[in-house]
Amino acid sequence: MNILLLGSGGREHALAWKIAQSPKVEKLYIAPGNAGTSQVGENVAISVCDFEKIAEFVLANNVSMVVVGPEDPLVKGIYDYFNGDERLREIAVVGPGRDAAQLEGSKSFAKEFMQRHSIPTAAYRSFDGTQLEEAYSFLETLKAPYVLKADGLCAGKGVLIVPTLDEAKAQLKEMFSGMFGNASATVVIEEFLDGIECSVFVLTDGKDYVILPEAKDYKRIGEGNTGLNTGGMGSISPVPFADAAWMRKVEDRIIRPTVEGLVKDNLLYKGFIFFGLINVEGEPMVIEYNVRMGDPETESVMLRLKSDIVELFEKVAAGTLSGTTVEFDERTAVCVMLVSGGYPEAYDKGFEMTGLENVTGSVLFHAGTAEKDGKVVTAGGRVMAVSSYGKNRDEALAASFESAGKINFEKKYFRSDIGFDL
Ligand code: AMP
Ligand code: GLY
Repeated sequence: MNILLLGSGGREHALAWKIAQSPKVEKLYIAPGNAGTSQVGENVAISVCDFEKIAEFVLANNVSMVVVGPEDPLVKGIYDYFNGDERLREIAVVGPGRDAAQLEGSKSFAKEFMQRHSIPTAAYRSFDGTQLEEAYSFLETLKAPYVLKADGLCAGKGVLIVPTLDEAKAQLKEMFSGMFGNASATVVIEEFLDGIECSVFVLTDGKDYVILPEAKDYKRIGEGNTGLNTGGMGSISPVPFADAAWMRKVEDRIIRPTVEGLVKDNLLYKGFIFFGLINVEGEPMVIEYNVRMGDPETESVMLRLKSDIVELFEKVAAGTLSGTTVEFDERTAVCVMLVSGGYPEAYDKGFEMTGLENVTGSVLFHAGTAEKDGKVVTAGGRVMAVSSYGKNRDEALAASFESAGKINFEKKYFRSDIGFDL
């Protein structure tokens, strides 16, 4: 079959790499893709939210499955767009419907969903700009630090963790005045949870699910989780504290109630659910839902998924996931992200990359690259994920560092402590 994958980051290169391994695939297209995805499929210059162009392309090229990488098209309703058009209805879209995508698109929707289905999460209330005094009073009932979340999508930037009450009040006022545009017209204020995070992924057909390998991501730019937040500096899978007993709690208290909640609330969902969890004294709680895979978690998770992902997608679309088992690679996989010096603040683009052909011990997933005059150049802050297997964390990391050393571009930077806290 022909498949179209939407997106252009490291996550999408990792998904494309995995999809391309399936014997079921005749032709894989990636829109818009990057210099890496063009090694495993054909890039198509269409943006991920241009539904009309996507539909036209899919019909003209006999595509029977669309896999959606990022959240934007899902929250904007690509599933419903296809489902509502006779010519497109038979084409499988891997992702949730627009209403279910609100689990990521609106923090207050997600919190209400969790409360309704008794899924463990931080205590919260949500407020809009007309309720400033009420919101201040609620803040006064909480302990420091204070967690303020813009309700809408903010490209991962809408969460503030503020050390003092006065600052929290000031920031809240700023949020209502448009700090994140319309996305912070409503703000969720919640209790701070102290613990270590873990990303758990499932594929669901809307009534059954399979659990994929879990991972932990590293968001801060500096060693030891210091400095500014980034789009992700690396990831590791498996996560040692996510052992069988902990995962049983996750499945019983979080995954199953979530999927049952989708059914009860009549929310159509055929795709990935990303559970952003935190381990609070041994008990898993939900920090957030995302309606897609994680980046850079996918760049280690795909290494550990042995099953044919296209076969899983077909079952998701057909609603026949029940009874399916997923095979994992028992080895550790890590991803070390090479970034451009200066990132996540100002950085330059267009640096030539050399040495890629000398890398043998890792899988390279392009994140922000482009092709220029037959050369690969940097085209983003996060440039390339260097993913490796190992018997354990240290062995996998050593492989990624060796490969990272062979890749050259001006102002290359990476973190050398992925997995340090596990
Ligand atoms: P989110 O966009 O909801 O994932 O939040 C971004 C990050 O903020 C998370 O990955 C956590 O590190 C942190 N965070 C969010 N909510 C809380 C909370 N209630 N307690 C502690 N940390 C949180
Ligand atoms: N790694 C976190 C995310 O993809 O949102």
